[in-house]
Amino acid sequence: MLLSELSWPRRTPRLSLRPARVEDVGALWAWQSTPGFTHWMPRLHNDPEKFAAHLTGVLDKTLVGSLGDALVVSAKVDVHDPWSQDETAAASAGTLAEIGWAVDPAWHGRGLGTELAAELLAICFDGLGLHRVVAECFADNAASAAIMERVGMRREAHYRANSLHRDGTWRDSYTYALLAEEWFAARQAVSTTG
Ligand SMILES: CC(C)(COP(=O)(O)OP(=O)(O)OC[C@H]1O[C@@H](n2cnc3c(N)ncnc32)[C@H](O)[C@@H]1OP(=O)(O)O)[C@@H](O)C(=O)NCCC(=O)NCCS
Repeated sequence: MLLSELSWPRRTPRLSLRPARVEDVGALWAWQSTPGFTHWMPRLHNDPEKFAAHLTGVLDKTLVGSLGDALVVSAKVDVHDPWSQDETAAASAGTLAEIGWAVDPAWHGRGLGTELAAELLAICFDGLGLHRVVAECFADNAASAAIMERVGMRREAHYRANSLHRDGTWRDSYTYALLAEEWFAARQAVSTTG
């Protein structure tokens, strides 16, 4: 199933999530272009036209979330094929997703990133029926790593100096992951105990 084929919006305690649209560019630009926001992000958003072109190109894998009338979060759900042998390539196609998140700096530190990430896992496993979800961050991006830990993802890799930051320094990075059976078991445990 494609992200766009799920039932939208999806609601968390505070957020209403839906696939991104071209007309979201302005609202996202307003906070994704703020100084410091892109420090740990792959792209430096300092040109509104390039930002609009980029968003337009990734609409099929981008979600946005609102709190009241304001778009305060965005997320990536990038579904792709896992590494496989030739014989299992078709059977395993489209069973993996990489997820990512961003929160309006005005709302940092209030749990919205964690709330968003938890819902992204539900979207991937319960909604899309995926087998495995991964997320990556610079090791020094403590807020993002804390989110991965809090939503139950497992740190599977700590790469040493594998990414050259735009500040000119080589940085460590983490890869976190979770399998569908682990996510469903954790959800079952919560519903049984609580
Ligand atoms: C990463 C990001 C999404 C976190 O959003 P958020 O809504 O502030 O996250 P939450 O409030 O749910 O949780 C953040 C956690 O990190 C902690 N944290 C925040 N800044 C921190 C820092 N500089 N050092 C250590 N911990 C930090 C918070 O205290 C919280 O953990 P705690 O509740 O256990 O204390 C947000 O900072 C962001 O959008 N950053 C820019 C984009 C980005 O880096 N995206 C991820 C790329 S991998």
